[in-house]
Amino acid sequence: MTVSHNPVVPSRFAVVGNPDNRRVTLFADAVREAGLPEPRVVAWLDVLRGNAEFHAGELVRVDSPGEDAEVARLLHGSDEPVDMYRVEGTRRWYQGFTTALEKLEHAIDIAGAARLFTAQEVATAFDKQATHALLTEAGVPVPPAAATDGTESAFIKIRHGSSASGVVALTVRGPRRRAVTSAELVRTEAGIELYNSLRVRTYLRDADIDDLLGVLAGDGLHAEQWVRKLSIAGRSCDLRVVTVGGRATHAVVRTSTSPMTNLHLGGQRGDLARFRALVGEERWHRILDIVESAAVCFPGVHCLGIDVLPGADGLDRIGEINAYGDLLPNLMGLPGTPGEAVGTYHAQVRSLTGRFAP
Ligand SMILES: Nc1ncnc2c1ncn2[C@@H]1O[C@H](COP(=O)(O)OP(=O)(O)O)[C@@H](O)[C@H]1O
Ligand SMILES: [Mg+2]
Repeated sequence: MTVSHNPVVPSRFAVVGNPDNRRVTLFADAVREAGLPEPRVVAWLDVLRGNAEFHAGELVRVDSPGEDAEVARLLHGSDEPVDMYRVEGTRRWYQGFTTALEKLEHAIDIAGAARLFTAQEVATAFDKQATHALLTEAGVPVPPAAATDGTESAFIKIRHGSSASGVVALTVRGPRRRAVTSAELVRTEAGIELYNSLRVRTYLRDADIDDLLGVLAGDGLHAEQWVRKLSIAGRSCDLRVVTVGGRATHAVVRTSTSPMTNLHLGGQRGDLARFRALVGEERWHRILDIVESAAVCFPGVHCLGIDVLPGADGLDRIGEINAYGDLLPNLMGLPGTPGEAVGTYHAQVRSLTGRFAP
């Protein structure tokens, strides 16, 4: 059975995830609070070891396989433990992850269970180049593509990155370049290594920038024009909007003094009311329309976290699509949507059980 956005009351939810992952526990809380049976948690580790089973009548949600060392090792197809701080290796991880997703989808389908995802669409969401192409094709505004070779100002990203890993904001002025990035470049006897860092660094030397881009290129690159984002009180901002069943239900503004607004890099939640007042209601609703038009490109994924880049030029573009973008604790949703007065997980349960009437 394929995904349906129509309300279905499953006999039981099953959640594939790492059992102590916060997304898994928060979703389970929402299910329980709706008076539904306790969801069955299926560990990613069991999925990867071929020990997972699904049952007819279950509705299966799949969560991030991140943050578990053994799961990461298996997804990377590595004999050695993988260093979770290393930037390199996302291409191999992606191959392992997408293969595992396809097998998972098959296992769910032959069991006669239903699911809240399609493997192929989640795979697209984890491929920044494929997402950019899909959205462009659908006429959804995205930053124009740019060269990946470091010869023009651009945002250069590893194709399969997340959490700002391997993201480089590159400025090119004549012969001079400046790379702002979350990656720390370390030269060892073995060669050049890149580490995810909580401190955003600026590299100015050509040798450093060439080495940085050279190592990142091994995992595949996506480059697009650097959008000058709107700023509030001197801090550039973007939006994370969550869609549930295709509706934009939750929105948060993220602001930062650096070009990357990710919260672990010092980004902060901004004031949404202030943002809305700044852009005006017409533009605000246009933003929600753009987000929902992006969600249409992923009809088989019930919940998405969609990043919006609000331009200082008055235009808004989609930055990226996150298949696991709903971890926004304590954020209440937009009035008139399934997120009204509840968090992202309650909104998903509401939408699935048809227990929301605007
Ligand atoms: N083309 C761009 N122009 C300006 N800022 C960008 C652009 N692309 C991404 N960003 C910013 O960089 C950060 C990370 O980018 P994103 O594409 O969301 O990658 P990730 O998957 O690592 O979160 C976000 O804060 C976003 O606002
Ligand atoms: Mg992002």
